[in-house]
Order: sequence, then C-alpha cells, then structure tokens
Amino acid sequence: MSKVFACFKSIGAYAPKKVLSNEDLEKMVETTDEWILQRTGIKERRLASEDELTSDLGLKAAKLAIERAGIKTDEIDAVICATLTPDFLCMPATACLIASKLGIKNVLAFDVSAACSGFVYILYLAKSLIESGLHKNILIIGAEKLSSVVDYTDRGTCILFGDGGGAAIIGTTTDKNEAIADIQISADGDYAHLLVAPRSRVTHPKDDRTLEYLQMAGNEVFKVAVKTLTNDVVEILQKNGISADEIDHFIPHQANLRIIEAVREKLNFSHEKTVLTVHKYGNTSAASIPMAMNDAYEEGRIKHGDLILLDTFGGGFTWGSALLRFGGK
Ligand code: COA
Repeated sequence: MSKVFACFKSIGAYAPKKVLSNEDLEKMVETTDEWILQRTGIKERRLASEDELTSDLGLKAAKLAIERAGIKTDEIDAVICATLTPDFLCMPATACLIASKLGIKNVLAFDVSAACSGFVYILYLAKSLIESGLHKNILIIGAEKLSSVVDYTDRGTCILFGDGGGAAIIGTTTDKNEAIADIQISADGDYAHLLVAPRSRVTHPKDDRTLEYLQMAGNEVFKVAVKTLTNDVVEILQKNGISADEIDHFIPHQANLRIIEAVREKLNFSHEKTVLTVHKYGNTSAASIPMAMNDAYEEGRIKHGDLILLDTFGGGFTWGSALLRFGGK
C-alpha cells in the first residue's frame, strides 16, 4: 500500500465588515496615521460586531474552506480551532461550537492555545493525525475576536490588532508532490510575561486591568520576533534542502511590516513572493496566516502544486514554520 501524506486541500477566510482606520484611532488615542504606518505598516483593521463571536468568524471561513475542498461536512473527522479569544474561556471549546453550527457530530473537536502561532500548530497536529492513519479530512480554523481583549486606551497595542477568521481542509494524498513537506514548531515559556492576554482569574483573582486586556512589551517582542522568524525559516529550508528561490509564496505572520521586511530581506525573498495583508487587517493572531493565504488564493496567485513557506511567531513565546505544496484547485 502506498504511503499517505497530509495535503493542504483548500483555504477560506472571513474578514468582518467594519473597518477601524488609523484616522479613527487618531480620535481615540494620542497617535497619528503617519506614526502607525511608519512603525507597523498598518493602515486599517477589521472589527467584529458586538454579536459576532469568534465561532461566527471561524464558521464563515470554515464554510468557504469546505466548499472549496469539494467535500461534504460528514466527511470531516476532526475539527481543531486555534484561538486566544474563544467564545467561552476553556469550556466549551470554540471548535465544538463551530462543529455544531456546521452539523458535524461525533468527531474529535478541540481548541489549541498557541497565540499567533496557533494556525501552524494545528496544521502540525492535522498532518500528524492524518499521517498516523487515524484521520482523513480535518477542518482547521484560526479565528480571533481580538477587539474583545484590546485596550482601546493603550496606544501601544490598540493600533496593532484586528478580528477575523481563516480555515483550511487538510486531507490525504499519495502524491508527494502535493503534500505538506515539513512543519517545525517550538516554544519558550521564559518569555511568557512579555505578551499576555488576558490574565486568568485562577492565578490573578484580584480585579485589575491586566485581567481584562492584552498587555505587551512591544519593543522586546519585536526583537525576539525578528530573530526567531528568521532562524526558523533558515532552519526549515536547510533541513529540506530547499533554496529561497524555489519558494513560490512566502506567507509570514502579519504582525508588523518592519518585522516581515527584516525577515524577507535577510532571506532574500522578492516582494512579489511575499504575501502581505498587514496593511488592511493588522495582526489577527491565529487568523493572520490563513487570512493572508486566502487573499493570495482569491487574487489567483496561489495555484495547485505551488511551494509555500509559512512562518509564524506569537505569545508564549511560540513559533513555527511550514513547507507545503498547495493541494487545492
Ligand atoms: N502612536 C504614537 N506614539 C506611540 C505609539 C502610537 N500608537 N505607541 C507608542 N508610541 C511612542 C512610545 O510611547 C514611545 O515614546 P517615548 O520615546 O516618548 O517613550 C515611542 O513611541 C517609541 O516606542 P516604542 O515602543 O519603542 O516603539 P516601537 O518602534 O518599538 O513601535 C510597536 C512599537 C508596538 C509598534 C513595535 O514595538 C512592535 O510592533 N512590536 C512587536 C509587536 C508584535 O508584533 N506583537 C505581536 C507578536 S505576535
């Protein structure tokens, strides 16, 4: 029997309608469009409406991914959601809520907490579950309502984040040329204190601001992010004997244009190969990579068999990279 590989079958995403521009933020905190653009490359971000929850954002992205994969919901045998803004803190999992809204029952469904690296983490899990032979079609979702944990009086953080959802179907193939080639993920909890959102009432029972809002030491996060994202990509390319020239699309986590540019320049990726959405969505954490991938797909840039490199970094700290052929149509 031929070996079964995991295959990235489809991508889908959803961006909420409401736009929060830099000009809007100028009216809320002491900042300017010029400062935000120069330091982050962000022009605007999307905000979910009050009654739109993370599961709703994930659901819309998931429906698109399922339709594009050309499968029925009853063929899906696992649902995994990465989010740091679940509808409920811990229980029930957002993946269970999305599965229920899709009418998917009696399958594995759970959430993963790996901040902005969440999507690459769940891609790693999906690949492992499929190549172990236990599963055939896994729905993975990265969705965030970050506006629910952002302090809109803190100019150091509120300019960066936005809401959205992205999803993919990871299926099977026996053709190595359309497989997910390699994924490496890692973490270092020594940096945990530099990016927290929000603190738990279990460890911090006192009612203070840190319970409610995302807190970040921006400058320190920035430095580690550039170093880690660069090392990560160098490592996965070397390990697989692939040169940067062979990559068709470099899709990094969309946190800050300066971080992306530093990594891009170091690796010598062209502007054309680098997918950018940070200017219009800001940082949407676990949704950032699938939203960027979806944009490139809808623009007709990503085609079947293209070699894609994902690179991510987030709170924890967590990080990871993935090397894959696009197996969708
Ligand atoms: N508008 C205007 N001024 C601002 C500002 C804003 N929105 N936010 C901060 N400033 C000020 C600071 O108060 C500081 O003023 P001071 O020199 O008088 O003290 C000055 O700008 C420089 O602050 P600093 O934090 O050093 O700026 P920076 O160049 O590092 O940019 C970030 C700040 C947050 C944009 C940047 O550090 C960053 O993007 N970090 C990474 C964040 C990230 O990606 N997090 C998610 C990881 S997945």
